[in-house]
Amino acid sequence: MIDQLKQLLKKAITEIESVKSPHELSEVKAAYLGKKSPLQEIMKTMRDLTQDEKKEFGLRVNEFKQFVEEKIDAMRNIMEERIIQDKLNDETIDVTLPGKKVPTGSIHPITQIIEEIEDVFIGMGYRIAEGPEVELDEYNFELLNVPKGHPARDMQDSFYVDENHLLRTHTSPVQARTMLHLKGKPLKIICPGKVYRKDDDDATHSHQFTQIEGLAVGEDISMSDLKGTLSVLVKKMFGDDRKIRFRPSFFPFTEPSVEVDISCFKCGGKGCNMCKQAGWIEILGAGMVHPNVLEACGYDPNKMQGFAFGVGIERVALLRYGIDDIRNLYANDLRFLNQFVKKG
Ligand code: PHE
Repeated sequence: MIDQLKQLLKKAITEIESVKSPHELSEVKAAYLGKKSPLQEIMKTMRDLTQDEKKEFGLRVNEFKQFVEEKIDAMRNIMEERIIQDKLNDETIDVTLPGKKVPTGSIHPITQIIEEIEDVFIGMGYRIAEGPEVELDEYNFELLNVPKGHPARDMQDSFYVDENHLLRTHTSPVQARTMLHLKGKPLKIICPGKVYRKDDDDATHSHQFTQIEGLAVGEDISMSDLKGTLSVLVKKMFGDDRKIRFRPSFFPFTEPSVEVDISCFKCGGKGCNMCKQAGWIEILGAGMVHPNVLEACGYDPNKMQGFAFGVGIERVALLRYGIDDIRNLYANDLRFLNQFVKKG
């Protein structure tokens, strides 16, 4: 009988060692330790034994059970370990592999310039103001000293929506809106935004473009403040060596009015193809706010003065980046736009 037990143990061990899954292991356990196991058969013969033999046999049976159980537990551990190891091997990540490049969006050059200019002016205590693109004739023209029938309306051939509304032809109506809103208080604002004119699109014209308007109104604001302020702006846009000059000009809403030139950033003023040999490049329009505008917008022109300017962002972009066709800025061709992706 003890021999039988020994053989059974041998068989059990080989079977335990050859199982392939935890499920098979449970089956082997039931087969050797369960109610229908050969062990039970062997134990049935116990009654023929003497007292001493019974004792001895009992010990052996317990040893058998314990051994098989331990062996099964050990095997289960090995298997679980193996499963985890296999999983780890399968899921190994090679951290040295190059990652997939995810193309990210980037800021459009026009927006980049707007943001740069905003930074410059916020640094000088300006606030950003906005207004609607579909504007009342009153704000776009009337309050800016351009009454109906005024020839200056032709300078800015407009898209009318109905009799009183048009797509704003410049960002200057935001001046009128802000002044009326602030009811005579001093102010410093810039207003970036889209503007529209009935132009035929070509390399240098677009029926829709972008401007930034600047306006400062206070008790002692002079033309030299305008010059100093614009000087800061052009240095930031075109380099520290830039000089500016004022040329007399005309806008109905400013008096005096000026056209502002910058010293050519390519030749430094000597004359080249960029500045058409002039040494200077026209960059924006500006002037002192016309007394009629101050008055119409609720400011006393005898107490308050102000300066205003309007800069075309596309013009800045074309000059600064040497872009030869304004339409490139609107075509959304990534081959063009990717030149302006800021690294880092
Ligand atoms: N609004 C003018 C334009 O669109 C520019 C300008 C703004 C001129 C403010 C003077 C003062 O051309």
